[in-house]
Amino acid sequence: MKINAPKGTQDILPEQALIWQWVEKQVREVFRVYNYGEVRTPIFEHTELFARGIGETTDIVEKEMYTFLDQGGRSITLRPEGTASVVRAFLEHNLAAKTGVTKLFYFGPMFRQEKPQAGRFRQFHQFGVEVLGENSPLIDAEVIAMATEIYRRLGLDALEVRLNSVGCPVCRANYRQALLDHLTPRSGELCASCQRRLVQNPLRVLDCKSPVCQGITAEAPQLDQYLCEDCASHFAAVRRYLDAMGVVYMIDSRLVRGLDYYTKTVFEVVYQGLGAQNAVCGGGRYDGLVQQCGGPPTPGIGFAAGVERLIITLEKQGKLPELSGAPQVYLSVLGDAPKLKAFEIAQNLRAQGIRTELEYAGRSLKAQMKTADKLNAALVLILGEDELARETIVLRNMKKGEQREVPWRELVTVIQEELG
Ligand code: HAM
Repeated sequence: MKINAPKGTQDILPEQALIWQWVEKQVREVFRVYNYGEVRTPIFEHTELFARGIGETTDIVEKEMYTFLDQGGRSITLRPEGTASVVRAFLEHNLAAKTGVTKLFYFGPMFRQEKPQAGRFRQFHQFGVEVLGENSPLIDAEVIAMATEIYRRLGLDALEVRLNSVGCPVCRANYRQALLDHLTPRSGELCASCQRRLVQNPLRVLDCKSPVCQGITAEAPQLDQYLCEDCASHFAAVRRYLDAMGVVYMIDSRLVRGLDYYTKTVFEVVYQGLGAQNAVCGGGRYDGLVQQCGGPPTPGIGFAAGVERLIITLEKQGKLPELSGAPQVYLSVLGDAPKLKAFEIAQNLRAQGIRTELEYAGRSLKAQMKTADKLNAALVLILGEDELARETIVLRNMKKGEQREVPWRELVTVIQEELG
């Protein structure tokens, strides 16, 4: 029986990989100009890190983690997100001591055992940033502006930035109580998940998609009315800076995010055209996380963006770039005698940076030309016994349909001219 890839995972084949490389290049360039350094953390960590970092009662920790015992009986988890790992690495290597503010970015696969659907996978990829050690609302605005800059650079439009503040533990506790007072009398009407959330994490009821729950929360008190002075002025400053930078956003008082570490600013970038899984990017401030992971009080903020959803958005908006993975040269060999010389020529072209494919099997000229055509090679070189004797090679420009004989010593120059 044939074995397929596990549900919720995907192979990225060469043609698709060109798009991934292009996206990654653009994203890296934005991170470079904003002065972020790359961090590559392990794909798996001690389970404890995510349980403590993301929150025991979140969907991710409760039911979506790939967790197993290793040979030594230690509980290991495939990372479901990057923030907890980055904070761990920040503490483990004492990065705070190196610079006042630490700005890191990452790019890589994440794992969540969710129900696969359009735009939702079990292995997916994120690029993201984390800034550690900066309290200023200016960095909140800069991080959000940087996220929008990435999408703008990739040519996307019609994306919405949703913004909210979830306050600090103090004002959130007050709000939590007010929300409970509002929801408890009607708890019997809430969906089964929200009845559970009501006990464990009532703020999560706010982002339930069920129309009944939404109806009940529509009349609920709003978080922004409960923010303490510090959180309210921080939020006002973030909005002021965003306005000044010309970043368009909308306040979404239902936006609470699915991870427990957030404080103050939270945001998402959404593309409505994606359907139910419409968030291409999500992030926010997490001023308590470093301490929760065993470090000194250190503010933090960041975001992560889904690469698969980004590429689906590019597709839907007709913004995929035209990229070619075709060889520049296909080297066709006729007969046995020229084989070794052909190999030498191919190696020489490759050393000159020319993308070269070679005939290995010694098939008929017709079969080789068919392959060159299928591969979409720009130029075909033909080396037979006559050319070998004359120290030349036939060069055919596939687009122009012209061919001529070129001496070996002129070959690289002529090819470079032909390729423009
Ligand atoms: P998150 O909202 O869980 O946040 O994920 C960020 C983005 O990853 C989502 O907006 C989405 O584009 C993508 N994503 C998440 N789950 C899936 C999935 N199952 N399939 C496909 N794409 C998915 C975080 O992960 C936080 N660590 C972000 C952050 C960084 N906050 C502060 N710093």
